[in-house]
Amino acid sequence: MKPYRNGSPHGVLDSRPSWASLSAHDQEPRPTSILLTGTTGNLGSYILALLIADPKVARIYALNRSSARGPAVERIAAQFQKKGLDVTALRSDKVSFIEGDTTKSDLGIDACLYNEVEYLVVWVVGPRS
Ligand SMILES: NC(=O)c1ccc[n+]([C@@H]2O[C@H](COP(=O)([O-])OP(=O)(O)OC[C@H]3O[C@@H](n4cnc5c(N)ncnc54)[C@H](OP(=O)(O)O)[C@@H]3O)[C@@H](O)[C@H]2O)c1
Repeated sequence: MKPYRNGSPHGVLDSRPSWASLSAHDQEPRPTSILLTGTTGNLGSYILALLIADPKVARIYALNRSSARGPAVERIAAQFQKKGLDVTALRSDKVSFIEGDTTKSDLGIDACLYNEVEYLVVWVVGPRS
């Protein structure tokens, strides 16, 4: 499945169903795999916490870029702490922390993983870009 971009280097759209389709219309719980970027940030960390708590979501790939500020998981944990979110949730088997590059059309990740993901939620970018 090939993603297409909406003109912004970080505004990736995809032929997969949008997050909005995971709404109340979707009555049947089913395993869903989601790749989410920006989870070291304000908004992304909240969304990650929501996804971990959502029983419809079976697998979450938290994709972040590498940084001299330390491993992504530690930066995410710091955000969780700051926001009073449950840091222990980050130990969930549902979550994998992966490194990638949102400027690449394949997000700089393995093709098998890219194709496995049902929903891509790729966004950013805040003031730290
Ligand atoms: N916060 C809000 O209330 C709010 C409301 C509406 C819309 N938004 C929009 O939502 C987006 C995120 O906001 P935020 O408040 O969560 O921002 P934030 O706290 O600054 O987080 C930005 C996230 O994007 C990542 N990022 C920044 N530049 C990147 C790059 N060049 N490549 C890869 N990742 C990059 C950061 O990763 P690093 O840790 O590696 O820097 C971090 O995970 C922004 O576009 C913002 O305008 C935010």
